[in-house]
Amino acid sequence: MIEGKWYSRLRRAAVAAVGAATLTTGLAAQATAAPPPDDGPLTPQVVGGTRAAQGEFPWMVRLSMGCGGAMYTDQLVLTAAHCVNGTGDNTGITATYGVVDLQSGSRVTRQSSYVYRNPGYSTAAGGDWALIKLASPIPGAVTLPTATTPAHDSGTFAIMGWGAATEGGAQQRYLLKAQVPFISDADCRSAYPSMKAGVEICAGFPQGGTDTCQGDSGGPMVRRDGSGNWVQVGIVSYGRGCARPNYPGVYAQVSALSAAIAAQADVLGGGTPPGGGETFSNTTDYAIPDRGVVSSPVAVSGVAGAAPSALKVGVDIRHTYRGDLVIDLIAPNGTAFRLKNSSGGDSADNVIETYTVNASAVPVATGTWHLRVQDVATIDTGYISNVTLTF
Ligand code: ARG
Repeated sequence: MIEGKWYSRLRRAAVAAVGAATLTTGLAAQATAAPPPDDGPLTPQVVGGTRAAQGEFPWMVRLSMGCGGAMYTDQLVLTAAHCVNGTGDNTGITATYGVVDLQSGSRVTRQSSYVYRNPGYSTAAGGDWALIKLASPIPGAVTLPTATTPAHDSGTFAIMGWGAATEGGAQQRYLLKAQVPFISDADCRSAYPSMKAGVEICAGFPQGGTDTCQGDSGGPMVRRDGSGNWVQVGIVSYGRGCARPNYPGVYAQVSALSAAIAAQADVLGGGTPPGGGETFSNTTDYAIPDRGVVSSPVAVSGVAGAAPSALKVGVDIRHTYRGDLVIDLIAPNGTAFRLKNSSGGDSADNVIETYTVNASAVPVATGTWHLRVQDVATIDTGYISNVTLTF
């Protein structure tokens, strides 16, 4: 076991050395384009925003045609109809998940297999949504629930994307974010007389300055619900220029479209949409001490009765030797479910997996669940990145 570990460390070092030599040009290019610091807007971003932290919007996706999207299930991405050409088989789109830096080595990518473009969409009618099915699921992907009622169609929203940081500007390497207030349909209509109240929702400041922009299309506009969880209220759709005074951004109004989206997702397959199974996540990182134990708590509320017989447990653990790890799910009543044992020979990195657990013996689903990770050997370490429970 220990020998395997040393072997793997040496092999890793050799691979890293080769990688460094071949990457020289790339690194030099990056060095000249120094990223802004995490904590301050040096230049205007999204338009008028700042850099998002890694893991802050874990369901966020970049699409290779130059749009944003959000994980709807672990195999479906919700984006804008105007980002795709039509409905049918499509293997030409690459989705990038799990990183704020599109060039990060830890990005997760998938090719598309199928695209469904809302057949009712037109600029005159609105309904700017599409679903992209990925060739395979992203195990443990964090999904973003869609608003199913207008309850959250007001207040302050978060917007994010890799699109232009100024009108006419370049696409971004790092995910940018900003906050914008709701704009009433009446005010929005004075900027856009044909704006479709009821299926479109507007957001921005009267004085402009902060907005989504070209390349942000298809990405989500979100806010927190009453329990503090993100809920998707909009899909980036259009605007006159970007961040101009009195021209807010216009978003597809998800609360009016979510039933149609859910129905189509059901037809496409590719996982349970949030809402068909309620999803609870903890995206805080928890360091796994060497030869120690750590737990990531997941608060579950509003699930009636017992836990299901097919509870989905999405796990994203970053670790340099996964054979060292023993993983259990602990129910609120203390019942433990073993998800994975240690196995000394398994020297691969990371546990990115969705486990299905028969948890029907847990009489009350509501309460705090824990993902407990034990590291049973020395040397290698890591952290719990995300845990998602789908009921
Ligand atoms: N349609 C644009 C795109 O394709 C996004 C427009 C958003 N514009 C705005 N001012 N909010 O990326």
